[in-house]
Amino acid sequence: MDGLLDLPDGALCALVGPPGSGKSTFAARYPDSWRVCLDVYRCLATDSEADQSATPVAAEIQNLLLDARLSRRLNVLVDSTNVFPHGRAGLLARARYWQRPAVAVLFDVLLPRVEAQNAGRDRVVPLHIVREHYQLLPDVDQLHREGFAAVHLISELLATSGALRQGTRR
Ligand SMILES: Nc1ncnc2c1ncn2[C@@H]1O[C@H](COP(=O)(O)OP(=O)(O)O)[C@@H](O)[C@H]1O
Ligand SMILES: [Mg+2]
Repeated sequence: MDGLLDLPDGALCALVGPPGSGKSTFAARYPDSWRVCLDVYRCLATDSEADQSATPVAAEIQNLLLDARLSRRLNVLVDSTNVFPHGRAGLLARARYWQRPAVAVLFDVLLPRVEAQNAGRDRVVPLHIVREHYQLLPDVDQLHREGFAAVHLISELLATSGALRQGTRR
């Protein structure tokens, strides 16, 4: 499967969206080695993706990988909700330190669809958490103000890829 978005070399790309919005599905379009994911590291540490007591160790693993890859000018996709400004600030600081571009993909999916997709996810997240994360979603201007060099809307990326595919069928 091809990526929906051409990332600049060595970019940090933060996926920003509530559980169920399609972040991991998007990340699966790129090489596995590009993806860092707190859920995966929480699971490696505790056998449970949801065990928040493992978030500090998961964050340490993520930071090690971010530094290893950004210092080598390799792309990284941060497949977590990234809805909290302090979490995004940490990512932006690392990209800045390594002088690498930081871009964001904002999962601007409507809540009913997020809820339906969450219900079909591998691990269904409680509805109140999905809604809480949905309410915290930043807008494009906020992400630019925080320091992301480019902000892409998943709705536009999917619409463009659909249009391209239709175009090739004609
Ligand atoms: N663009 C899409 N159209 C239809 N279904 C999707 C789309 N993106 C994701 N899904 C489905 O929604 C569910 C949640 O997607 P996932 O990528 O796991 O979300 P997240 O990683 O944000 O929690 C999965 O079952 C996935 O197959
Ligand atoms: Mg996911």
